[in-house]
Amino acid sequence: MNQSALLKLTLLLSLLVYSTDAKMDIIMSKQDVVIGEEILMLCKAGGEGEITWKKDGEDIDDEIVSVVDETSSKLHIKKAKLQDAGKYTCLCEFESGYHDDTQIVLFVYEGPSFGSTKTYHEFLEGTDGVVPCLAMGQPEVDVHWFREKQEIPLNEGRRIRRLHDNTLRIENIKRDDAGTYVCQAQIRGRSIYQQLSVSVVKTMFTLLCLVDGLPKPNITWTMPVVFDPSHHRFNSDRSQLTIRSVARPDFGEYVCTATNKIAENSAVMMLHVFEAPEVFVSAEQQRVFVGERVSVSCNASGHPQPELQWLNKHTGNKLDSASGRVRVVDSVLVIDEVVPSDGGLYSCRAVSASGIVSRDVAIHTQPGPPQSLTVSPGPASVLISVKAPPVSGGTPITGFVLQWRQSASEEWKQVTVPASDPLTIPSLKPYTLYTVRLAARNAVGPGNFSDITSVRTQGINEPDSPVLLVDGMKIEGNSFSIPLKQVDDGGVPLLYFNVRYRQDKEQAEWKEMQLASNADSVFLQDLAFDTDYQLEITAVNANGSSIPAAFNFTIAEQPFNTSSGITKGSVVGIVMVIFLVVFLVVDATCCYRNRCGLLMSIAVKLFGQKVPGMKMLEEGDGTTNGEVTLKGMSTPRGSMQQTGVQTVTKAGEQLKEVTCDKAPLTKNEKTQP
Ligand SMILES: *[C@@H]1O[C@H](CO)[C@@H](O)[C@H](O)[C@H]1NC(C)=O
Ligand SMILES: *[C@@H]1O[C@H](CO)[C@@H](O)[C@H](O)[C@H]1NC(C)=O
Ligand SMILES: *[C@@H]1O[C@H](CO)[C@@H](O)[C@H](O)[C@H]1NC(C)=O
Ligand SMILES: *[C@@H]1O[C@H](CO)[C@@H](O)[C@H](O)[C@H]1NC(C)=O
Ligand SMILES: *[C@@H]1O[C@H](CO)[C@@H](O)[C@H](O)[C@H]1NC(C)=O
Ligand SMILES: *[C@@H]1O[C@H](CO)[C@@H](O)[C@H](O)[C@H]1NC(C)=O
Repeated sequence: MNQSALLKLTLLLSLLVYSTDAKMDIIMSKQDVVIGEEILMLCKAGGEGEITWKKDGEDIDDEIVSVVDETSSKLHIKKAKLQDAGKYTCLCEFESGYHDDTQIVLFVYEGPSFGSTKTYHEFLEGTDGVVPCLAMGQPEVDVHWFREKQEIPLNEGRRIRRLHDNTLRIENIKRDDAGTYVCQAQIRGRSIYQQLSVSVVKTMFTLLCLVDGLPKPNITWTMPVVFDPSHHRFNSDRSQLTIRSVARPDFGEYVCTATNKIAENSAVMMLHVFEAPEVFVSAEQQRVFVGERVSVSCNASGHPQPELQWLNKHTGNKLDSASGRVRVVDSVLVIDEVVPSDGGLYSCRAVSASGIVSRDVAIHTQPGPPQSLTVSPGPASVLISVKAPPVSGGTPITGFVLQWRQSASEEWKQVTVPASDPLTIPSLKPYTLYTVRLAARNAVGPGNFSDITSVRTQGINEPDSPVLLVDGMKIEGNSFSIPLKQVDDGGVPLLYFNVRYRQDKEQAEWKEMQLASNADSVFLQDLAFDTDYQLEITAVNANGSSIPAAFNFTIAEQPFNTSSGITKGSVVGIVMVIFLVVFLVVDATCCYRNRCGLLMSIAVKLFGQKVPGMKMLEEGDGTTNGEVTLKGMSTPRGSMQQTGVQTVTKAGEQLKEVTCDKAPLTKNEKTQP
């Protein structure tokens, strides 16, 4: 009733805690109740109302229910029965008219227990044994068998298995089957269980002395060993002798003698105790360095005396005294001058009529040298891969010793890498020739080194320089563009291109800009005219930047502004016009004043005589550029034209005389008849 008092206290506390909350709760100390235990449930509603109980949907016998106060009701079962298990619902009809309910599931169980299950079993080797587990409990019990924490399965066909009636069955019992087995009984669906340990021992043997006679004879036994009450047992009339744990010393003659007043009779029984072989080796594991000698001895017990054989488990070969360096002498395995391939498992096998048993011996030595290497250069590193794993030496290769040096006069530097990791020699100098080699190592130690290989490291994972396609270069006014191609990003994605440029003169400042990693050209604008430029572009990734790609170009001097109408051609024209004007002025002056010059000679040629009253021709005032009109040399056949120069002719009238006149400008005089 102590528990009940505690529960009441809990209920009281709960009453204090659960105040006017409109929710409902069933409070109970535990959900799993043993048959016969007291059950107390309290239903607490969040407000005043009428509380009723149901079990599995049915109304409950009023006797076990009692009202505590306006907001709670108690259900009390003095002794739990199996039938009390089920779903309990507490319903409340609140004064407000609102309904609510809550539920709880109660389990009632008994056990589990093992009743009279025997916990000690003896079997003869080679027989079949059954070990029952009489587990009881309610409502239902599931049985599992375990050995060394491993569950024994129900599988058909296994030598040791659980049968459907929960019996453990061991077929063809072996020495190793002796031990402790655990029968675990669990209430179905609940985590309630009990375990029972059952010992199974091998060999028990009973000798029977079948006697008849009146008066009932006395039976006596003579045995090859001294009677030992823990080992030998008689039944009540001594007609049965049971020998527990039969062993080799028990073999021999057993004589039972039946004596009564009338006669005496004896029966002789020979007990042959066959003993399966048992093998002993001087060491199950031997560590030996390459070149050393190792020996392992093997002996065996058993009846009849077994024959011993040594095997190399790897090759399957039997070893004997004639098998050379690895041989067997008087059941001792001897290996002279161990080599890596000697490492591995050997087996000493005992063979007799009562069985074959073997025991393995592991010989561990250093691994062999790695062969068929591939040595590849990496960025300031070297990566080695070994195609075929080296001879292990009988125990797994745990790592590799990688060595390197730049020249034969240098000491080897080395690093040890776990076998699972890539065989990389990091942190070398980029673009440098190294000699490398490696050795495998295992638990015994490192083996011999491989042959040496030379390798030249690559640069660090920087991208290659971008390539500038000079053919596609364009210079337009003061802007410049050139196509760009990325070659190799160095295995690490590009981040961007870094572009810098400056005027090609001392102390000019670099201007810098970045281009997206997918840019396909460089474009520079607002450059200065008539200037040489230097351009450098590097590709940048997380490891650094490439060597810059450099390019020099020139922006030509500023052209005339075509939109104001002046072109190069017009400039040439203007210059020529000015020249011509100056020439004509000089020539005309000459013609006018001194009757000389080109005009004069043309006029003479034309008219065959000296032309009088030649007047001077002058340029129009104020017209420095644009049109210059001139009274020029004209022929009746047509006119001569030149850029910016016009020769004006009065059509239909023949020029007989060229007049040199100052102004007005365009004036031809008629030839005097
Ligand atoms: C049989 O053995 C018992 C006890 O060893 C002895 O008292 C009894 O006299 C014996 N009977 C005969 C017939 O030898
Ligand atoms: C067999 O070897 C074990 C250990 O190697 C030794 O203790 C035992 O005495 C040996 N038995 C025989 C019969 O040689
Ligand atoms: C290494 O090779 C040499 C020469 O072949 C040999 O004498 C030595 O025993 C080997 N050492 C190891 C650990 O394999
Ligand atoms: C190159 O960069 C990658 C990623 O940032 C890094 O993992 C790697 O170690 C770098 N290599 C060198 C040689 O710096
Ligand atoms: C560009 O010009 C600079 C200075 O005149 C010179 O040092 C550099 O080598 C030139 N670069 C190229 C790519 O021609
Ligand atoms: C060319 O002339 C136009 C108008 O005549 C002017 O707007 C423009 O800025 C000039 N360009 C240059 C390069 O001088």
